[in-house]
Amino acid sequence: MSVGIDEISFYTSNYFLDLRTLADVQKIESGKYYQGIWQERMSMAAPDEDVVTMAANAANPLIDRVGTDTIGTLLFATETGIDQSKAAGVYVHRLLGLNSNCRVVELKQACYSATAAVQMACALVARQPNKKVLVIASDVARYDLDTSGEATQGCGAVAMLISTNPRLVEIDPEVGNYTEDVMDFWRPNYRTTAIVDGKYSTKIYLKSLKHAWENFVEVSSLAFNDFSHFCYHLPFSRMAEKAHKHLAKVNKVGLSLDQIEQQVEDTLHYNRVIGNSYTASMYIGLTSLLENCKDNLAGQKVGFFSYGSGCVAEFFSGTVVPGYEQCLHTLTHKNMLDARREVTYDEYLTLYHYPDPRDGEHHDIPESTTGRYRLAAISGHKREYVIC
Ligand code: HMG
Repeated sequence: MSVGIDEISFYTSNYFLDLRTLADVQKIESGKYYQGIWQERMSMAAPDEDVVTMAANAANPLIDRVGTDTIGTLLFATETGIDQSKAAGVYVHRLLGLNSNCRVVELKQACYSATAAVQMACALVARQPNKKVLVIASDVARYDLDTSGEATQGCGAVAMLISTNPRLVEIDPEVGNYTEDVMDFWRPNYRTTAIVDGKYSTKIYLKSLKHAWENFVEVSSLAFNDFSHFCYHLPFSRMAEKAHKHLAKVNKVGLSLDQIEQQVEDTLHYNRVIGNSYTASMYIGLTSLLENCKDNLAGQKVGFFSYGSGCVAEFFSGTVVPGYEQCLHTLTHKNMLDARREVTYDEYLTLYHYPDPRDGEHHDIPESTTGRYRLAAISGHKREYVIC
């Protein structure tokens, strides 16, 4: 019996800042962003949007198609938690109309936790093949202004249905892991922005890739050349190129620039214009591959490298299922991205500094998102979500 991803759909905010605008303000060449890190735009969350509303918006097309009856668990991965106790997924459970027998829990380990959720979901559906697990990863990536991380902000959510006999990607049971206690990127509870040692974090990412891969080949019969495409965690799009060159070197495989491009480029289309979406980013990369690759991917092996700072990393593999192209949400995603509005630098600052009320008073939040779900108010320390 195979298990894996049966449906996948993502969402991002309707606002974006073009990184040329940021470069102009910083009086640097936009080439640093467009060519240097392969980022063109970054999504900025609307004031009435958070990980809950983005998550519900990501899952909505999927629920419209498959309904709620068989969903027995919702696993919610995020590092932009809105509450220390209550799982954000419980709000999503109501917004999506999931049934009251569906369990909900939130998972955290920086950008890695969505992969933990996918693996746990695969194990759960193997045990209860008549049930499906909804995995949602949702995040807002925030760094301090005027830091090297600023251009790698973004926001987004991805929703995946994990089932037996999946229609998109079968996930293999073999995984390679690497864990090390390091401080490359972290966000203490009292901060709204992450602290990052940028250069060090990219080194640790590559080191983790090598170790996770070495652990993977110990347990799997697959070798580097068995994979047609590779989905990497995407803190910025060019990280995929750096990672892929590194992995090829570890395997003593010489790759031309064309081969590198062919194996990773199609995973990057959405990330280039969304920015980092932390837990969601690798899976938005998978969506990009499935929806944009001109070749038919049926039967092809895809390698996945999931990285969460701090750090936990995992390499695993999957096989694209024949007929997958009939089960995508390509047009919904295209329309959503096309309908986004570019913001000026001043509007970007307004969104960035939008108040996050903590006084327990009643605060209405003006309508701004074009999404179906919005955060309408915060009152008495409670978040009030509505369906538009
Ligand atoms: P930086 O240090 O300001 O940039 O920020 P740089 O000076 O290294 O320039 C970047 C590249 O642009 C360089 O190319 C330049 O040469 C090139 P490279 O040396 O890499 O080949 N460049 C240009 N190219 C063309 N035209 C030009 C031009 N100017 C320069 N005019 C840094 C880079 C990654 C440090 C920064 O973006 C940052 O701090 N980002 C945040 C941290 C991050 O993304 N880390 C990635 C690994 S950690 C991770 O993935 C986990 C994470 O997602 C969090 C989690 O797990 O929760 C972050």
